[in-house]
Amino acid sequence: MESLEQEVAVAMPRIGDKAPEFKAITTQGEINFPADYKGKWVILFSHPADFTPVCTSEFMTFAKLEPEFSALNCQLVGLSIDGLYSHIAWLRTIKDKIEFKGMKNMEVKFPLIEDITMSVAKKYGMIQPGESSTKAVRAVFYIDPKGMIRAIIYYPLSMGRNFDELKRALIAMQTADAYNIATPADWQPGDDVIVPTAGSCGVANDRMETKEEGITCTDWFFCTKKLSLEQVNNPAHSN
Ligand code: BEZ
Repeated sequence: MESLEQEVAVAMPRIGDKAPEFKAITTQGEINFPADYKGKWVILFSHPADFTPVCTSEFMTFAKLEPEFSALNCQLVGLSIDGLYSHIAWLRTIKDKIEFKGMKNMEVKFPLIEDITMSVAKKYGMIQPGESSTKAVRAVFYIDPKGMIRAIIYYPLSMGRNFDELKRALIAMQTADAYNIATPADWQPGDDVIVPTAGSCGVANDRMETKEEGITCTDWFFCTKKLSLEQVNNPAHSN
């Protein structure tokens, strides 16, 4: 039988849940989460520890891509089980000394939460005791503008994240919301998208027999349509 402490440590919110609320100290001041980011997407991510190489390469990449996430109405918020002064010292070292893949002088401008008590990490299931009971795994929570958890990705301590995928996932969810579609395997912006499956025999018949304008069906349940890159880039014009 697991102790209560262990049970709490592995509890985690799920897709479709309201993002757990918390107040925290960060490298950009205090935050009230997720209320401070209402109306924006948020990527809340954890990393194992400051002054470690994989995390350093990730933070430099997050810092480089931050303007692209910001253009997608998405705020980045990081977390590790380290104190504020460690965070500040590490971010200064990254800016002053570290070079990676042509990146240097990278300034991390998004908030990095201090979570020495692990209270936020435990709320979000970022501690996975089989991997480490003192370090957060590389968790990524996508939280939508209404404060709901929409996607969760986990990586182990040893593996740096794929940033193309982090960005692609955000765009795919924003596109699905804007156009009421789904995105097929390996979808990239500009590729054809999936039309919601027919919900009645009548619609299934229409799809196969009458043929709906602009929709291609290989069977009644597998229908796609074009969605241009321009449409993906302008989701506000979806209606
Ligand atoms: C790293 O960021 O380099 C790292 C952190 C914890 C375990 C292994 C690698």
